[in-house]
Amino acid sequence: MIGRLNHVAIAVPDIEAAANTYRNSLGATISAKEAQPDHGVTTIFIELPNTKIELLEPLGQDSPIDKFLERNPNGGIHHICYEVDDIIAARDKLTQEGARVLGTGEPKIGAHNKPVLFLHPKDFCGTLVELEQA
Ligand code: CO
Repeated sequence: MIGRLNHVAIAVPDIEAAANTYRNSLGATISAKEAQPDHGVTTIFIELPNTKIELLEPLGQDSPIDKFLERNPNGGIHHICYEVDDIIAARDKLTQEGARVLGTGEPKIGAHNKPVLFLHPKDFCGTLVELEQA
């Protein structure tokens, strides 16, 4: 079921500073900054040859990454995103096995205009997992 690693997401308090670090120190290619109001974050993607890094900064009131940044004020790895061919089939299989899907359980449209779901970190080795339909 699990496919490619789509991205690793890093939550940061200052997305411009983080993007500059990746651009200037590491020579990375940086996407434009994009507000994702449905997800309560602003994103910048760093394109790597084999995957992407998603920088996340809180957007608006009650961003889902507020608590994470309270615990990790310098930022930190927030989630990893795996591709799946069929997100509904993946969800149904995982929930049948007892895994918890966050939110309503229905996929939302993610940063790449594809359906995404998040899985509870307690069910996946302490790591928040995002599934994205490839
Ligand atoms: Co993500």
